[in-house]
Amino acid sequence: MKIAIIGATGQLGSDLFGELSKKNDVVGLTHADIEITDIDSVNNIVKAIKPDIIINTAAYHVVPEAEKFPEKAFLINGSAVLNLAKVCQDNKIKFVHYSTDYVFDGKKQAPYTEKDAPNPLNVYANTKLSGEHFALNYCDYTYVIRVSGIYGSVPCRAKGGNFVTTMLKLAKEKPEVRVVNDEVLTPTPTYWIAKNTDELIKTDAFGLYHMSCEGQVSWYEFAKTIWETLKLKTPLYPASVKDFPLVVKRPFYSVMENQNLKRAGIDIIPDWKEALIKFLNTSL
Ligand SMILES: NC(=O)c1ccc[n+]([C@@H]2O[C@H](COP(=O)([O-])OP(=O)(O)OC[C@H]3O[C@@H](n4cnc5c(N)ncnc54)[C@H](OP(=O)(O)O)[C@@H]3O)[C@@H](O)[C@H]2O)c1
Repeated sequence: MKIAIIGATGQLGSDLFGELSKKNDVVGLTHADIEITDIDSVNNIVKAIKPDIIINTAAYHVVPEAEKFPEKAFLINGSAVLNLAKVCQDNKIKFVHYSTDYVFDGKKQAPYTEKDAPNPLNVYANTKLSGEHFALNYCDYTYVIRVSGIYGSVPCRAKGGNFVTTMLKLAKEKPEVRVVNDEVLTPTPTYWIAKNTDELIKTDAFGLYHMSCEGQVSWYEFAKTIWETLKLKTPLYPASVKDFPLVVKRPFYSVMENQNLKRAGIDIIPDWKEALIKFLNTSL
């Protein structure tokens, strides 16, 4: 199988590259190799590589930046996904595209399945939802995979880190750390997303998928596990979302149930705590 990974040096792209390279011919594409907003660039790469599968991890995903520059966010998270979907459809290429738990508004207060109606609260989430629609409606060979609170050994390029690296930095630099205890989700290591993606693309079960660890946790409880596992000494306290200025509206509950993944017979993601402890012990 020949696979092209867009954003191969990013947080998720790096783990996908490592996992998929074990058994496939994988071409890792950086931003210097391809500009997804430019259809000619996409077509040229496809002609040169002739992949069976294209995996897109590129996104404009610094949430406050997307509020400031909505056109740019729509261009990268929406129109560029349409480019990729059209090229994949024309060339009968399987198309994997990643989206986000932020498409939900959080009001359900119970795990969201793929059947639940999205209601995005901010520009980033609206643009990602537009990308989902373009991917699913313009290419018959699409898997859209929603992920949540991702962290990997290669930090997110756009954000310059992830929650784990931010906590380690704060624990080192601050006299005490306060983390919200009323924002609940299921953070998921990119390693497990890569492994489940590998299983999914072996099937022709195209469609929409939730792909997050089992269980749910507040950011504070998640941080507490980091503190306990790494025996950090800096005092850690629970806080409320109300204690911090709300820069951009976001869902305070975005737990997802991997219903479609389970139906496809693929759900090899562990519980969030087991996954986090393994990550802290092996990937830092
Ligand atoms: N981070 C999270 O917590 C989170 C949560 C939910 C969903 N997601 C989704 O997960 C996916 C992967 O995130 P990540 O953390 O792996 O991102 P990342 O580390 O920022 O990697 C994105 C990669 O895409 C490249 N890229 C950006 N714009 C591009 C363009 N116009 N054309 C070609 N390449 C471009 C970047 O290159 P340069 O850096 O050189 O521009 C980078 O290598 C995204 O779809 C994101 O929306 C992330």
